[in-house]
Parts: sequence; structure tokens; C-alpha cells
Amino acid sequence: MQFPALAEVSKTPSALFPKGFLWGCATSSYQVEGAASEDGRRPSIWDTYSHTPGRTEMDQNGDKGVDQYHRYKEDVEHLKWLGCQAYRFSVAWPRVIPDGFGQVNEKGLAYYERLVDELLSHGIEPYATLFHWDLPQGLEDRFGGWRSRETAKYFAEYAGVVAKRLSDRVTRFFTINEFGCFTDEGYGEGTKAPGLMQGNRVRNQARHCALLGHGLAVQALRAAARRPLQIGLAEDAAICVPVLETEPHISAAHTAMRELNAPFLTAILEGKYTENYLSSEGKDAPEFTAEEMKTISSPLDLVGLNCYTPTFVRADSGSTGYAVVPNPTSYPHMASQWITIGPEILYWAPRHLKEIWGVNNILITENGCSSDDRPDASQSIYDTDRVMYLRNHLTHAHRAIAGGWPLRGYFCWSLLDNFEWTDGYTKRFGLFYVNYATLQRSPKLSAHFYREVIARNAVV
Ligand code: FCB
Repeated sequence: MQFPALAEVSKTPSALFPKGFLWGCATSSYQVEGAASEDGRRPSIWDTYSHTPGRTEMDQNGDKGVDQYHRYKEDVEHLKWLGCQAYRFSVAWPRVIPDGFGQVNEKGLAYYERLVDELLSHGIEPYATLFHWDLPQGLEDRFGGWRSRETAKYFAEYAGVVAKRLSDRVTRFFTINEFGCFTDEGYGEGTKAPGLMQGNRVRNQARHCALLGHGLAVQALRAAARRPLQIGLAEDAAICVPVLETEPHISAAHTAMRELNAPFLTAILEGKYTENYLSSEGKDAPEFTAEEMKTISSPLDLVGLNCYTPTFVRADSGSTGYAVVPNPTSYPHMASQWITIGPEILYWAPRHLKEIWGVNNILITENGCSSDDRPDASQSIYDTDRVMYLRNHLTHAHRAIAGGWPLRGYFCWSLLDNFEWTDGYTKRFGLFYVNYATLQRSPKLSAHFYREVIARNAVV
């Protein structure tokens, strides 16, 4: 596929990103690897869930994914072609410790060594996420998964195993990806694996156990590391955008950011649950100890936010001081209906993190969108909607940096089309198009766009 070179756009120096700004792409193990039962990997809760009829679009599953397990060398070439300096991938816990506890699987670790070596030999920095939802089924069966503190404890053991093996080569780790998507949706709403609807009390305890797992893993990573590590998380916090960028709406967004993220990000960064969270949950509030809260708030080196969609907030005269403004039905969204468009999130995410919690090292660990990609007669894919989405978000990322907010890097979701959880393969998020019959990858217009952005270190 041939795209004409993008016309030169003259850039004033102020439109440039700072030298050293990190550009990358992100994926996750269950979504891309495939090879579900190879080399000792055992099922995760996502294997079980996606093999249960009626749970995913067209009952699709990640058995084959996009076969990155075998095609990682080719995918590293694509990262290189884009000019990426970093790749955020996740380690599959059920490859490394197939039941989640007990036996370590050498072949699983060996795969990540191969991937990491390939990245490093191409000058691409590995950023490894330890948990991106593929919990070993063994832990779900034996202990009730994240409903139990045992899982948090075994998560830390697994983190130690990975750090011991990989930290000579990998120094950037994220513990957990998006807490609410496997606690709230997994045990409360039942809309993601393991698909249980057990009410707020169980959900809140699962939330707490996941936070504990995060904190214990931070400590285990540091204890096992062979070199100093940079440790963080990748959270899909509600990004509160003031309806108007004026006072008192800005202050209201600030307050809302802390409160709406009380179960996860706020608890981690402050070491406590907010009064409002505990009182609003009442008898369903999580049980916790002071010692656990200390563990949960173990110091971090980076904070990663997965940013897709805004939460609009206005000032309100009620007791909280803010109100969430629901989108009108006419509000625009991308091909996935849940991705309502608000590029200001890439300005407000770093600003809130710095202003509220003093975070100095901020990464956008995911940003991107689905598009109804279809090859044209010449097999080219002109995903102008994705380019629009990315360009506008990056413009606001640049605005954040120009304003002095400490945004250090950006990972596009995703390098290539992949298994989009309950949407199966029906929603495409890649910069590279995957032909699911042949697994051939080809760059979309958005890949050419991102490549130009990276090459010029500027929005094009
Ligand atoms: C995020 C997930 C990621 C992907 C994108 C589209 O919530 O972390 O795995 O599915 O959404």
C-alpha cells in the first residue's frame, strides 16, 4: 500500500514536543498473543469467559489472537518502522505461573525474554504490564480470584518471579491495568470475566484486594530487582473536564477528579479511602487495615493513565460542589459507542495528576479509538476518523506540556487490530490493519500519521 508523503507543514519550535518525549504503542497479552495452550500456558478467566456461549460478539475468543506469540519479530519491525521508542505489552500470568500459584513455567518466561531481547536489539524500550486482566483460572477456582487476599499475595509472588528474570533488561513495570474493568465489571456487573454479579460488598472487597495486590507487587518488584526500577500503574481514571475552562468549574472538576476516582487512584496516591466513598458505600464499604493502606500507597515512580473519553463536570451548589454533566444524546462518539470524544482529556489528565497529587512523571499509557476500517480497491485504509481522534488528542497533550504539566510520554492503543474483549474482533483499534484470514498486517493512514508525528516530534 502506497501513501503519498505527507506535505511538509511548517512548525514553529513551540509546536514541538520536548526532546526525550517518549512515543510508543501498547497491546496486552490476551488480546494479541494467541498460542493459548502452547508451551505450558494454562487457561485464564478470559479463556473461560470467552468460551462461554453468549459472552462475546459472535462467541469469539483469544485462542489465536493475532498470533504475536509467533509473530513478535514482525511486530517489532512494525514498531521500528513507526519510530517507536517504547512498547507497552503485558506479561500473561498464566504463561509464567500457569495456575497462578505454585509451579513456574520456564517456557513462559523464555517467551518474554525473546520478546524483550528483540525489542532491545531494535532500540525499543520494553514497558511491561504485569496484569492486564488474564487472571489464571486456577486462582479463580481455588480462592475466588480477586475477591480474596490470597490472589493479591500470589500476584506479588508472580511479580517477584518476573522481576528476578527480566529486570536485567526491563526496568519499567506497570503493576495493574484498569482496576475497575476486572473488579467492578468482573464481580459486580458481570460484563467482563469472570462474569459474576455479586453486589457492591463483594465488588468493593475485590477492589480492595486488587489495590492490595498492586501495593504488594510494587514491593515485590523492588525487592527482586537486579537494577533500579521505575514502577507505575495504568489506570483508566475518570478524567474530569470542566464544562467551561473557567472558575468555579475548574475547581469543581478538581474535586470531582478526587472523588470519582476514590476507590482506586485516589486510594493509591493518598493511602486512604475518602470519607465520601466510605460513607456512600455504608455497610458495603471495604474492610481494610492501616497496614494495608500503607502497602497500597507504596511510592511509585510513574503514573500511567489510559485516556479515551471525558467526564464533564460543572460547579454545583450542593454539598459536593460539583455535578457530572451527562452527554446529550447527540454527543459524538467513535465506532465504539463508549468512546465519546473529548480530546481535552489529554490536557486535564496530567494537570489534575500534578495539581491534586503532585505527580511528576506522567504517561498516557493508552489512547486511541476504533474505526470501521475497510481496505479500498487498492487495499489502502484511509482511517481519517482515527487520524482526527489522534491529532486532536495529541494537540491537547502538547498544550499540557506547553502549560508546564509533567507529561513524559504517550502510548497509542493499539499497535495493531486485536481481540477487543467482549467485542471480539469486531472493533478494530490498530494503527496496523490485521487481515484475520491471513494475519497479514498493513499500515493504515493513521500509522503513517503516527510515524510522521514521531519523526518530527510534533503534531502533523
Ligand atoms: C482499554 C483496555 C484495552 C483495550 C482498550 C480499547 O480499556 O485497557 O485492553 O481494550 O480499552
